[in-house]
Amino acid sequence: MQEWFESWFDTHYYHILYKNRDHEEAELFIRNLFNYLNLSEDKSVLDLACGKGRHSILVNSLGFKTTGVDLSEESILTAKESSNDRLDFFVHDMRLPMQNRSFDLVLNLFTSFGYFNNDSENLQVFDSISSYLNADGLLVIDFFNAIKVKKDMLAVEVKEIEGIKFEIKKSEQNGFIIKDINFNDKGRDFTFQEQVQALELEDFERLLTKANFRIKETFGNYQLDNFDKDAERLIIIAEKL
Ligand SMILES: C[S@@+](CC[C@H](N)C(=O)[O-])C[C@H]1O[C@@H](n2cnc3c(N)ncnc32)[C@H](O)[C@@H]1O
Repeated sequence: MQEWFESWFDTHYYHILYKNRDHEEAELFIRNLFNYLNLSEDKSVLDLACGKGRHSILVNSLGFKTTGVDLSEESILTAKESSNDRLDFFVHDMRLPMQNRSFDLVLNLFTSFGYFNNDSENLQVFDSISSYLNADGLLVIDFFNAIKVKKDMLAVEVKEIEGIKFEIKKSEQNGFIIKDINFNDKGRDFTFQEQVQALELEDFERLLTKANFRIKETFGNYQLDNFDKDAERLIIIAEKL
């Protein structure tokens, strides 16, 4: 049986529902993040769980050799349309190490973590990253702020996008934020589910420490304001020890 994250992210409905997470949003974040990181142009960047590559394309346009990987074959097919000699994309599972590749910076952006059922798979992701991250390399994680998500959670939300009415039921179960997504398109009913672990800063700290990373800095939004319990995002900059 397929895991939810193998099927849902591979549909075009996922891209319709999250249509507002677009190029402009990515541009704001990448511009601010790279100003802060102040990397020299010889550094190489991996966008881990890149989707259709909206961040990878921008990072490459800043002059960096960039690779984007994702589990979704459909998303990688679209991303590949933007490939060039310093920007490549391929299908890869973030839980696995990579052969013959190494990077100076790994980006894991827009809640591309917390999908797995246990800590050992979470750790597998960080251990794999550590295996292909160069010495002094950095890892940037952009995750939701679980404290705020839980506080502001509406039980049901309806969003109409491109003529499709998505009914989204949200709940918290066993430490996961569950979204049940139901809609009808062209007379056919669809049901998908998202299950993302409600990881807080302390959880990341524990996992990252186990994988030999140290948290260097945190931010609370794409403008890089401070992180606190009301912040929109939890953005973590971690360094490999
Ligand atoms: C919320 S989306 C974010 C995509 C992209 N970072 C963006 O901002 O547009 C999460 C992505 O994680 C990918 N993903 C899920 N499980 C994965 C895995 N085990 N390995 C690699 N990518 C995975 C999905 O296919 C999806 O593209």
